[in-house]
Amino acid sequence: MSDQRSTVFQTNPNKDFLRTEYDYSHVERWHRKAVRRLEYLGLPAWEMLDIICWEKFLHRFTTIEREENQQHLMFLQANVQDVEHRLYSLYGEFDKILLSGCDKYGQSPEWPYDVVNLDYFGGFLYSNLSRPKAIKKLISNQANFQRSFLLIITQHLRDGDTLGEKAAFLEDLRRSLKSITPDKGAHKKVDKVIDWYVSAGTPDSFRQALYMNMFLRDEGEAEHFDVECQPGILYSGTGKASMVHFVTDFVFHPGIGHKTASKQSLLQLIDLGTREVRDGTFVLPVQVAPKLGISK
Ligand SMILES: C[S@@+](CC[C@H](N)C(=O)[O-])C[C@H]1O[C@@H](n2cnc3c(N)ncnc32)[C@H](O)[C@@H]1O
Repeated sequence: MSDQRSTVFQTNPNKDFLRTEYDYSHVERWHRKAVRRLEYLGLPAWEMLDIICWEKFLHRFTTIEREENQQHLMFLQANVQDVEHRLYSLYGEFDKILLSGCDKYGQSPEWPYDVVNLDYFGGFLYSNLSRPKAIKKLISNQANFQRSFLLIITQHLRDGDTLGEKAAFLEDLRRSLKSITPDKGAHKKVDKVIDWYVSAGTPDSFRQALYMNMFLRDEGEAEHFDVECQPGILYSGTGKASMVHFVTDFVFHPGIGHKTASKQSLLQLIDLGTREVRDGTFVLPVQVAPKLGISK
């Protein structure tokens, strides 16, 4: 798995904007709704900038880190920030920890969580599919506790996708959209939009954003969550790497035997498109995905 192991995370104005303004407002919203402090699981790096920024909304924090030196520094930082009594630290690859249920030292996450911030190196689709499997497992663990949660994911725009997964996904999506839009006019719009996503000239960022949001919706609904996605946000991160950022609400619906139907319709989700952050703020994107423009 290619995941830029050598890159050391350094924050930058785009990341600062997302953490301190955009994600902050979502964490604040969840805190208001919960009327209590939130349980956090994430990959905060040693500086714990996200935890420190959202600290007043959080109760305890479970951190995952695979670099030993980063973990030592994290303990020091927690001490300096006077939050070490709220820190529970796991060591290793996050996907392995989620899949196996424990870290390199046999310690397990303290399920369930309210805010999960997976801010990782590398993309999403590699041949072993360990990342999709890990995120599925996370969603199913949360469902076992019937716990609604906010999921924040940041990843590199650099997928292996050796299995041609996205191409197959787009053709499945074309068929699903046609089955819920029976008239010919709507089918034409569906073809126009899906052809655009399939086209080699379309930047992969658009495909990845749509693929991820659809993945989160499908997996969430199958585990009885009402899923609300936000547009994928494109930005330039550490070392000018192209990144994409997702914020998703998973609201558990108890007592449902069948798959949940989210309030956000499939047509609305396709039309979310992407947003772009540059120089630490939202900007008008250079390129915009075509919309279906079909009312739900
Ligand atoms: C991008 S930084 C986190 C930044 C933080 N969320 C913030 O807002 O500033 C990611 C951290 O997670 C670690 N990391 C990256 N990929 C990982 C993985 N697959 N498993 C475990 N740790 C990982 C990195 O070593 C780094 O310390």
